[in-house]
Order: sequence, then C-alpha cells, then structure tokens
Amino acid sequence: MDPLSFLSTIAQENLAFQDDNAEVFNKVNSNRYNKHSNPAGILNMGIAVNKLQEDIVVKKLNTINHITPENLEYGDPTGSSSLRSEIAHLTNRHFNVYRNVLPEQIVVANGVTSVIDMLISTVCNRGDAVLVSAPYYNAFDTDVNLRAKVVTHSVNIPISEGLDPSQVKYFQHTYNSLAAEGIKAKILIICNPHNPTGRIYPKETIRALLSFASKHKMHVLVDEIYALSVYRAPAFGDQPETKDDLIYDFESVLSWNDLDSYIDPSFVTVVHGMSKDFCMNGIRMGWIISPWNDLIIKALASISIFSYSSSVSDTLITRFLADHQFVDNFIKIVARNLKENYLKTTRFFNANNIAYIPAQAGHFIWSDFRQLLLQWKNNNLSPNEKSLSSAKQLTFKDDKEMWYNAVSDASVCYSCGVNFHSETPGWSRVVFSIPWEDLIVGLSRVISYSKTLNGKGKLLNLSKL
Ligand SMILES: Cc1ncc(COP(=O)(O)O)c(C=O)c1O
Repeated sequence: MDPLSFLSTIAQENLAFQDDNAEVFNKVNSNRYNKHSNPAGILNMGIAVNKLQEDIVVKKLNTINHITPENLEYGDPTGSSSLRSEIAHLTNRHFNVYRNVLPEQIVVANGVTSVIDMLISTVCNRGDAVLVSAPYYNAFDTDVNLRAKVVTHSVNIPISEGLDPSQVKYFQHTYNSLAAEGIKAKILIICNPHNPTGRIYPKETIRALLSFASKHKMHVLVDEIYALSVYRAPAFGDQPETKDDLIYDFESVLSWNDLDSYIDPSFVTVVHGMSKDFCMNGIRMGWIISPWNDLIIKALASISIFSYSSSVSDTLITRFLADHQFVDNFIKIVARNLKENYLKTTRFFNANNIAYIPAQAGHFIWSDFRQLLLQWKNNNLSPNEKSLSSAKQLTFKDDKEMWYNAVSDASVCYSCGVNFHSETPGWSRVVFSIPWEDLIVGLSRVISYSKTLNGKGKLLNLSKL
C-alpha cells in the first residue's frame, strides 16, 4: 500500500510541492554573517527585514517586558481588546482614516501570513483563483495554497505600466482566460506600498483596480504591511529621481471618503502588522481590518483559535503600541534611516552601473542585475554552452543558478527575480535596510562574484523551470 495514501489529499499535494528556496534560507540561517564573530558567514540581503532600528526596538521591548500570571492563561484568539484598541489607535493616527477604525473591526493573528491564509479560507473555495500583478511577493503563492488550495495567477504588467490604470486590461485578460477554463477569480490582491518594487500606486490606479474587481464581484485584499515605511514622497518634499520616476503619497484605502463609488466596501479588507513597519518579523503578529463587513470578521474569528498570538506577544505589543509618543517618533526614525540607506545604496548602484527602479517605501530595491548575470553566466558556461552576446539570451534558469550559487560560493544572498515572478531574468530584489557597513559587504560580494571565473558552483536541478 502506498504510504502516502494515509495522508489527506491536501497533505499529499503539499509534500509534492518542492520549495528550493527553503534549502537556501536554511543554509543562510545556519551560517549568518557577523562582522566580528563570523566574517565569512552569509550576508543576507534576501529577507525583508528592517535592521536599522534593531537597538531601539530591543531596548524598548526589554524595558516593557515582564511576564504576569495572566500571560499563562489562554487569551482572546482574535487579540485582546486592549491590543485591538491600540491597533485601532495606531491606524487612526497614521492611516489618515476616513472613519475611525474600531477594535471590533480587527482580527489579530500570528502574522500577516496567517491572516492571509485565514481570509482565503473564509472567502474562497478550493480551486478558486487569486489575481496579483507580477512581479509580486512570492509567499502569496503558498499563503493562499498550502491550506486553502487556492491558486495565484500572476498578471504580467510591463514595467512601464506598473503604476498605470491601463494595467486593468491585463487583469481583464487573465480573468477572461481563467473564466474560459471554468476557474473563478475570487480575490484580487493589491500590495501597496508594493513588494518587491517599493513603489506606491497612484490613487487612480487603485480606483481602476477596485472598479475591475467590483465588476466581477471579486474580493480585494489590500496588503498595506509597508504603510509606515514610506521614506520618499511628495509630502516629504521629495522630487522624482528621473523623468520616469512618478512618485505618489501613500493613501490607505481606509482614508478614502469615496470608496463606495468604486466598489461595495464590504468586498475590501486591509492587512497590516508588526513585522515590517516595527521591525519585528520574529514576534509574529499581524491583523486584518474590515470596517465594512461584520460577517468576514465573524468568520475569521471562528477560525482564529488556530493561529492566535501568544498572551506574551499580545501584552508585549499592547504595551509597545500604548506608548504613542514613542511609536510616533519611531515611525519618523524609520523613515529617516530608510531614506539614508536608500540614498547610499542607489549611489553605489549608480557608481557601479546597476540600474534600478526608484523606490519610495519598504525595505528593498528592484534592481537590474542583468549585466551582472550575463557576466556571471559567461564566466560559468558548461562545456557544451556557447557564450551569450546579450542579456536577452538569459533564462530564468540562469537567474536562479546565479542566486543559488552565490550563497555557497560567495556567501551572499539576495532575492532573484524568478522567485518574484519577474517578467525577465536578471531582476533582483535587494534588501537595503541593514546597517551600511554590512550592506556594502553584501553588495561588493555580488559584484565580485559576477566577475569570478569559477564554474565550481553546484548546479541546481531546475527541471521545474
Ligand atoms: C507584502 C507582504 N505581505 C505579508 C508579509 C508577511 O508578513 P508577516 O511576517 O506578518 O507574516 C510580507 C513579509 O515579507 C510581505 O512582504
């Protein structure tokens, strides 16, 4: 008897899913770079984490952390009412809300990852589709699929139309193709500010996307996890870097007074959390806000027992958020530090002829590594391969191989574009929110690696690509 037959169909499908990336990240985590204690370790520019305020966050958490008998009890699976009140307060102070968000309109879980999984199970049936424009944050694929068995369908948008309302036509095309196969596109994900490009959508594009979703009765998940990591915007007096650099102020959908002109708001939910804007990936806390749909809140609450934050995290973060003066000041420090590192990184890119898409928010820059990849590829041809004369000849297999080999051969990890469903090979997401003295080591390692003639890298079995 097939031993797998003891497992559910869902478990069998999950086991069949091979995550090449997990192997790389295990390697990275087991040999982390440290300037003093492990200078030969792997420098990680591949995970979206903001380490620029680490000292402030650690100090604050240590000051307010004390365990009480209450922490040994089960808490409220949707988040304690004090925590949800503080989250509502934070949102009302910083998202320029049209109507105050109330604690009962929020469900907290152990990360936005869990919140997305919960929402998908609440709104979709197995086999339904989620539409998201590419390039996109790769974990959306697993977030919607591992438990709910819903499938992401990437909508490829040319870079020139990445922020433009004209992109709706590509969504429509994908929607129609799926419908022709009998697949229902049930959810549209909008990530604003955007991961991996770090760009902010203009309001007119979000309007067009909401109207498109409304026409097809689709639910819209607006992922605003980087809402408070905006460091370059017209409101701050910033100017575009180039003529193609269209910069916008971030406007949460919670701030719109005319949302119902584009979509029935009960079809819209917003997610946010502690990982990115508060530099706490490891605390595991995220939340969903649905001011317009009590039923979704009730349905999410009904499954919240499986993924709620521990009582320790609940009280710790309640105390953290309750210090409004600290939090408001912290958000300003985050913006200042991100901007400083963004400018240093883009200066480095300019000096080394690396093109990039100017960013405004988040922890990363969508960087054009095509010339580096071309160089690496020509230095690492297999015996029967001819050298490439143009970056246009590069493949996604090359993209993934350089990324994979850079970890073992050059002790550096960035994110290769193929993982983000990039349209062309050679685009990479570089996380720049790590101290400059470390970041410069990582950037220099990538550049020298592309120049080394080694051919010693173990090549991945990339039969899937
Ligand atoms: C756009 C986006 N959404 C969600 C997440 C997941 O966040 P969490 O750590 O809260 O699960 C991430 C993490 O990188 C992200 O970039």
